Amino acid sequence: MYVCLCNGVTDRQIRQAVEEGASSMRELRQQLGVCGNCGRCGPEARDILCETRTRIVAAKVTIDLPPPPSLGEAAWA
Ligand code: FES
Repeated sequence: MYVCLCNGVTDRQIRQAVEEGASSMRELRQQLGVCGNCGRCGPEARDILCETRTRIVAAKVTIDLPPPPSLGEAAWA
């Protein structure tokens, strides 16, 4: 879907730029031209930026759990 009609930028291009390291609207503007003309695409581009960054951070979170007790061990302690 086109997000920025002035520069022909799609949501997919924005997600890809964020996945490749863009972390701000300034960087998206420099790389893709998003929000560099009329600015109507700003809110949608910002939403995509935030959603993609949240998804990337969530994918990096790991949960450290202790190993399960072996049979006959401490389960009854
Ligand atoms: S729609 Fe993106 S700058 Fe105009």
